[in-house]
Amino acid sequence: MRRTALLVVPAAVWFATCTTPAGPAANAAPTDRGQQLYARHCAVCHGADGDGDTPVALFLLPGPNAFRDGLFKLVSTQNGMPTEDDLIATLRRGMPGSTMMSWGWLPDADLRALAQEVQRLTLVGRTESIARTAVAAGQPLTEEQARATAERQLRAGATVDTGAASDPTAPQLAEGERLYGLHCAGCHGQDGRGLPTTRDWPTDGTWLWPRDFTAGYLRGGVSHRDLALRIRAGMPGAHMPPAQLSTAETEALVSFVQGLIPETAADHHAQWRRTLRVPQRQTLPNDDAVATTIEPLRLPLAPLWWRAEAVDEVLVRVAHDGATVLLQLEWADATRSDRAAADGSMGDGAAIQFARSEDPPLFAMGSLAEPVNVWRWHAFDPKETAGMIDLLGARHSGLDVGGATPPRPRTESIELGGIGSAAAATGSGLPLAVHTQWRDGRWTATFRRQLGARSPHEVAIGTGERVLFALAIWDGSIDRSAASKAISTWHVLELQR
Ligand code: HEC
Ligand code: HEC
Repeated sequence: MRRTALLVVPAAVWFATCTTPAGPAANAAPTDRGQQLYARHCAVCHGADGDGDTPVALFLLPGPNAFRDGLFKLVSTQNGMPTEDDLIATLRRGMPGSTMMSWGWLPDADLRALAQEVQRLTLVGRTESIARTAVAAGQPLTEEQARATAERQLRAGATVDTGAASDPTAPQLAEGERLYGLHCAGCHGQDGRGLPTTRDWPTDGTWLWPRDFTAGYLRGGVSHRDLALRIRAGMPGAHMPPAQLSTAETEALVSFVQGLIPETAADHHAQWRRTLRVPQRQTLPNDDAVATTIEPLRLPLAPLWWRAEAVDEVLVRVAHDGATVLLQLEWADATRSDRAAADGSMGDGAAIQFARSEDPPLFAMGSLAEPVNVWRWHAFDPKETAGMIDLLGARHSGLDVGGATPPRPRTESIELGGIGSAAAATGSGLPLAVHTQWRDGRWTATFRRQLGARSPHEVAIGTGERVLFALAIWDGSIDRSAASKAISTWHVLELQR
C-alpha cells in the first residue's frame, strides 16, 4: 500500500451503505490452520495475500504491513529478518499506538500457526518479486531458483547482543545519556519526545516519524531486552537504523532510555483482552450517580489514524439488575463537537459493538455470516450536514450549520455484516436509551437497554453468559478524517446472576 501521510478520508465513508459483499474471509476456503486463522482475523487489514493493499488500510496510519515487502519493525536479528518467535511476540502483544491489536487470547499453537503463515506470505511475495526482476533483466529463473534465493534472503540471521539488565550506576546513566545524544537524539530529540522537523519525513504510510516514546507508545515492549533489541537490531520497517554498540554501551544506553519511558508503558496502551464480570444489583443508579457508584474498567483505544492527541482510553462502567443493563463510557475530549460544521465533519460520538460468536473477526464490524450489533450515539447525524455528499452521491441538507442550537443527536442500534455491508436497523428491537453529558472536558455516554432481545438483529444479553464487546469513540474536532475514530479490541462482558 502506497499513499501519502496526509491522506484524509471523509468520515462519511464509515456510514456508507453499499452492496459490496463481506471481506476476504468470506470467499476463501483455506484448510490449513494458519491460513484459516489468517483469513479470519488478519486478511481484512493485511490482505489475503499479505500485500497490505486493502480498503481498510486507507483508513489506517500506520498502515498494515505488506508482508511481501519483507520489512518488519520488531526483530531480534542482525539481518533485520524476524524469527518465528519475534512474530509470535508481536502477535501476543500487538503494536500499541496502532490498530495492530494483541492476539494474546489465542492459544500458543494458533499464534505459531499465524507466525508461520506470515512467513509463508512473505516468502511467496519475495519469490514472485525475484522472479519478476529476473524476467525484466532478461535472465528468467525457475520457480525453485527464485524460491531458493528468496529463502536465503529472508532467513533470520543471528540474534543481536542485548546485554543484561542491571540496576544502573550513575556513571552508567551518564554514559547512556552521552550515547543517546550521539546516536539517537538526532531523530528522537534529547528528551525522547521527537523533533518537529521529523514530522515532515515523507512516509508511505506504513512507518511514522519518531514518536514521543516518553508517552509510552512502545510497539515492542519496554523490558531491557525489548529496548536493547530495538537499539541493536534497529526497526527496519520503521527506518530506525541499528546502532553499532558494545555490550556495555548497549546496557548503559538501555538504562538511560528506560528512564525516559514511564513505568506504566509496559501495558498502558496494549490492547489485551479483558473480562468484565458484573454482579447483579438491586437497583441501577441514576445517570448522575453512575460514576460514583460503579467501579470503572479502563480500556485503551487505538486511533485509526495516528495522532498524539487522539482519545486513547475509555472508562467503562457496567451494572445490571437482572432486567436492564447499563453501560457507561467516559472519555476525555477537550473540544465539545456537537454543532454541524460546513466541512461535513462528524461530531463527537461513541459506539459499543457486540458480537454473538465466541471468536468474531476483529475490526471488520462483523461479517455476513457473523453480524454484529452496534449501539451508537452521535452528537448529530453527519449525513444531515448541509452540503455533504455521501458515497452514493446524494447531497444531504437540512442542518443549521454552525447554528446556536445543537442538532438532534442520533442514537441507534444497528446490525452490521462486515465493512461496507448495509446496516440493518434493529427497528423492532428493544428500545435503547442513551444519555450523554459533556462536562469539564469529559464526555459520558450512558446506554441502557433491557436484557434479552426482541429482534433477531440485536444482541441477546443474558445473565450467566459471555458476550464480546468492542468500543469506538469519535472526536469530532478532527475534521472529516478517519483520525476522528479510535477503537478497542474485543473484550468480554459477563453479567452474573
Ligand atoms: C485492524 C487492522 C489489522 C488487523 C486485523 C491485523 N493487523 Fe497486523 N498490523 C496492522 C497495522 C496497522 C500494523 C503496523 C503497526 C505499526 O507499524 O505500528 C500491523 C503490523 C503487523 C505485523 C508487523 C510486525 C512488525 O514487526 O513490523 C505483523 C507480523 C502483523 N501485523 C500480523 C498480523 C496478523 C498475523 C494478524 C491477524 C492475527 C493481524 N496482523 C491483524 C493492522 C492489523
Ligand atoms: C534515523 C532516525 C532514528 C534514529 C537515529 C534512531 N531512531 Fe529510534 N525510531 C525511529 C523511528 C522512525 C521510530 C518509529 C517511530 C514510531 O512509530 O514510534 C523509532 C522508534 C524508536 C523507539 C520505539 C520502539 C517501539 O517499541 O515502538 C525507541 C525506544 C527508539 N526508537 C529508541 C532509539 C534509540 C535509543 C536510538 C539511538 C540508538 C534511536 N532510537 C535512534 C528513528 C530513529
